[in-house]
Amino acid sequence: MKISVVSPANIAFIKYWGRKNEKLFIPRNNNISMTMDGCLTTATVQTNPDLKEDVIEVKYYGEEYKKLESNSIKQKNLFDQVARIRKDAGKKEKVFIRSENNFPSDAGIAASASSFSALTAALLIAYGLEEKFLDKKELSRQIRFCGSGSAVRSAYGGFVEFKTGKSHKESYAEQIADENHWKLVDIVAVVDPEKKHTSSSRGHLLTKTCPYYETRIKEMQRRIKWTKDAIIKKDFEKLGYCIEQDSTSMHAVMMTSDPPIYYWNGGTMKIMQEILFARQNGLQCYFTIDAGPNVHVICEEKNIKRVQKLLHDISEVQFTIVNRPCLGVRTSNKHLF
Ligand code: DP6
Repeated sequence: MKISVVSPANIAFIKYWGRKNEKLFIPRNNNISMTMDGCLTTATVQTNPDLKEDVIEVKYYGEEYKKLESNSIKQKNLFDQVARIRKDAGKKEKVFIRSENNFPSDAGIAASASSFSALTAALLIAYGLEEKFLDKKELSRQIRFCGSGSAVRSAYGGFVEFKTGKSHKESYAEQIADENHWKLVDIVAVVDPEKKHTSSSRGHLLTKTCPYYETRIKEMQRRIKWTKDAIIKKDFEKLGYCIEQDSTSMHAVMMTSDPPIYYWNGGTMKIMQEILFARQNGLQCYFTIDAGPNVHVICEEKNIKRVQKLLHDISEVQFTIVNRPCLGVRTSNKHLF
């Protein structure tokens, strides 16, 4: 059976940084995101009894298809996810997988979010576990096993919360509001499209060395509540305030881990300063940055042109990607082979 799916990436408003359980990939704190309609992964999966081994081919932005080996943590997690789902389904056949992104990977644009959610969804259907794909709470738990927390949130469209918990059953994602609730815009300003130098997996482990990490966990609890509240009430100023605070709090942890991780570059700082300055001049927009130098600028539809101009006037900005909330991972009839 040949199955194709499309999955969006998502941008975290409240960040996932640090795990409570390394084996089950349970995050230390609840985290919240919005899906991104401009950053999509398409994946096609076909089971094949003649194949001797699983074959995964990935086409990164602007490149040709490349066969993956399990020679990094991320890639090993992917092969493990295939084997786990096949075992769960009680099947033997190997799979041929192709996956393609329409945006630069691994530069703080959550490429693994869209890739891992797409692959998990397609594998579940291909191996006959469609009920686990249709039950989105269960789908989110299944996606968690591939080790990318951000991917868990792409199980749903719109605005999503991924909850921590004490067990596999307790840690899953839930939708706060769907993709039609609030037409917010996330403009990604790309200052460096290259792969990030330190993986999130390594960063999660290093939180243990940061003397301020527990302070972040404590102080962010009320921010999690405020963020949900701001989304439900469509309170842009309150949401923006929370988004920026959480991003900076996470980066403070990164920079004070041992060894430290610095994801920002000069262009990142320039954009942050310009956003603060623009707000003083009445333009409502806020920044948030993941594990990379690129900046996500959140604004309302009415301000999109002004924010675009501001970003394109900054010489370090190479290009921008405009995103609005969209559906989560879904089946598609566009096959990649
Ligand atoms: C900074 O373990 O999900 O993006 O698989 O690389 O996306 P990736 O990392 P993951 O940690 C996410 C780190 C983050 C914040 C977030 O998306 O919540």
